[in-house]
Amino acid sequence: MKMSDRIDSLLSRMTLKQKVGQLNQEMLDFRRLEEIKEKIRKGEIGSLILVDSAFAGHDKSARASVEVLNELQRIAMEESECGIPIIYGKDVIHGHIIVLPVPLALAASFNMPLIKEGYSAIAEAAAADGIHWSFAPMLDLSRDPRWGRIIESPGEDPYLGAQIAKAIVEGFQGEDLSDPKSIAACAKHYIGYGASEGGRDYHKAEISDYTLRNYYLRAFKEAVKSKVSTVMTSFNEVSGQPVSSSYYLLTELLKNELGFEGFVISDWEAIKQLKKQGVADSMKDCVYLAFNAGLDMDMVDRLYIQHLEELVEEGKVSMEALDESVRRVLNIKLKLGLFDHPYTKCDAPIDRSKLRSLSREAARESMVLLKNDNNVLPLSKNAKIALIGPMVNERRALLGAWTLDYDLDEVKTFREALPEIAPEAEWYTCDSGLVDDELRMIRRADVVVLVLGESHEVTGEARSLTSIELPVGQAELVRKARSLGKPVVGVICCGRPVALDNVDDCLDAILYAWHGGSQTAYAAADILFGDVCPSGKTPVTFPRVTGQIPIYYNHPSSGRYVNGYYGEEAINNYEDCLGSPMYPFGYGLSYTSFEYTECKLSSDKISLEALEEGETIKASVLVTNTGNMDGKEVVQCYIRDVCASMTRPVKELKGFEKILIRKGQTVEITFELGKEELGFYNKDRNFVVEKGEFEVYIGDNCLTQNKAVFEVI
Ligand code: NOJ
Repeated sequence: MKMSDRIDSLLSRMTLKQKVGQLNQEMLDFRRLEEIKEKIRKGEIGSLILVDSAFAGHDKSARASVEVLNELQRIAMEESECGIPIIYGKDVIHGHIIVLPVPLALAASFNMPLIKEGYSAIAEAAAADGIHWSFAPMLDLSRDPRWGRIIESPGEDPYLGAQIAKAIVEGFQGEDLSDPKSIAACAKHYIGYGASEGGRDYHKAEISDYTLRNYYLRAFKEAVKSKVSTVMTSFNEVSGQPVSSSYYLLTELLKNELGFEGFVISDWEAIKQLKKQGVADSMKDCVYLAFNAGLDMDMVDRLYIQHLEELVEEGKVSMEALDESVRRVLNIKLKLGLFDHPYTKCDAPIDRSKLRSLSREAARESMVLLKNDNNVLPLSKNAKIALIGPMVNERRALLGAWTLDYDLDEVKTFREALPEIAPEAEWYTCDSGLVDDELRMIRRADVVVLVLGESHEVTGEARSLTSIELPVGQAELVRKARSLGKPVVGVICCGRPVALDNVDDCLDAILYAWHGGSQTAYAAADILFGDVCPSGKTPVTFPRVTGQIPIYYNHPSSGRYVNGYYGEEAINNYEDCLGSPMYPFGYGLSYTSFEYTECKLSSDKISLEALEEGETIKASVLVTNTGNMDGKEVVQCYIRDVCASMTRPVKELKGFEKILIRKGQTVEITFELGKEELGFYNKDRNFVVEKGEFEVYIGDNCLTQNKAVFEVI
């Protein structure tokens, strides 16, 4: 039977209550297990979220065994009247048992095939534990590293975010959702959550429609194009309207304009909070607003199940709209193959070795070499090394905030991993944890490796900071280490970009290792000792000091050089700080060197008609590895629309390619610029390319001046 016929036939047999039940997601609270079973029997639960409290990201939530999940599923299939399977969802954000780097770090890898492969391995591991659906990818563009959740985001760039959306959705969902190794993805948090005022989590966002469409929407657009199964609404309001009650954002833009065919789920209690946000005066009103805006499934509020029936009976919600939402949910369940294969095999072991090696590779590719004065790195494997700092013995923080299922035995500390990679080195470490003991170690060594960073507890949901400098005491440690006259290498393990102005000049080398997942320490060791050439690039701007926030590379042109990002110093930016960032977007050093030829174009003009027909301008360069080591380079292509009907960014990333170039080898890299790359949403919300001059830049970070010019006629 065709899927649509199957859905029609199911719908024709369902009672109003059962239909509403499909739109109700409850938490798998083990304290309420009997109640949950009873509700499943009555067809009142369509989905269960596998956590047993809110703030899942910070909990060690109980893992539901496959046996329990199968038993609940059996009740749904055999004891409930309509026999519709439950869809189990969980926050599988960047790992399952074995953890990849936090998503912001993964973005730094600029390696989309690797991200896709990583997420397909995560999907397989999660599916083996009975999970059908992950609440990822998080696609909230963010320009504010104070916001704890920036660690989950793809960073500040719409194009990079879009590529990541595609990679993660394809990784999770595979070629075919019904493959038992695939799980459904959820693009979240739609939309504007990353723009919360002051970096305070859940706060309002003030975003014009122009900015929303051109920056914040881009990654969601790509997720929809990649057939993402579900979308989660965000908590925040956008310019006065909570997203969860916005007909414009959910129905007109997401469903009608972008053509999203899956279902929309609220974030945790986002429906209930409409009352607190002051747009609804009762719980029933919250449901009325959210459902009619286009929000299909209620995450844990238990409000749809209480009020939706009544609203339908009162004619305030139409039966057609209800059927449409249920249809969307059933469609995903059918695509997942849940009707035909509702149960998970018990005791299907997860392939840890595959995940382990992907985690190490992803961590290596995510780490960014920010600085390497006098080629302090790579270190000799025979050196005398003082290995000190607050993160040396840390395990948990390296996994990042948003990891529910992890195995700490899989995580080696720096103290354990580095000597394993360089057993011939003389290691000076100390057990006491006392800083004065650590300083004594420095006196004995040739070089200092300072492992610095932040706790995962100051990142993630509802964990924002007012200051993004290194945590208390660490800058002092850096300066003291420096004063002892030895070269100092900083390995920094953080979720967010840290403001490094107060330590940068005291560090000879900086390896930004992030909260890099289960294999952080091994991956850092691979780079520190030169077994691997660093290749990560910053996916977000690193401010010098907290007060520079927001600072981002793709800001619009200004009449008065207010920004200073590109070195327009001493004009109209801050009096007490350079205007430029500490490290710009797309930046990262290597152990080898790359030379670029001039950017060449296939033509110096292209017509609007040709662009409409799918033709492109091709921009290319030759890149040569001129150093002594094979290495990967991220070749980046930016454009600037010089004069348009609206102010346009001074630079916008429109293509990148990460490629291994052997020493001495030259490769040609070509980018195609067509309508999608050259266009933007104008003031009338139309996606247009406008006539006029475009600059194209190809280089190794956003500051590149390797430019060519063409005209759209
Ligand atoms: C709230 C978070 O904002 C969201 O990202 C997460 O998926 C849900 N809680 C469920 O845990």
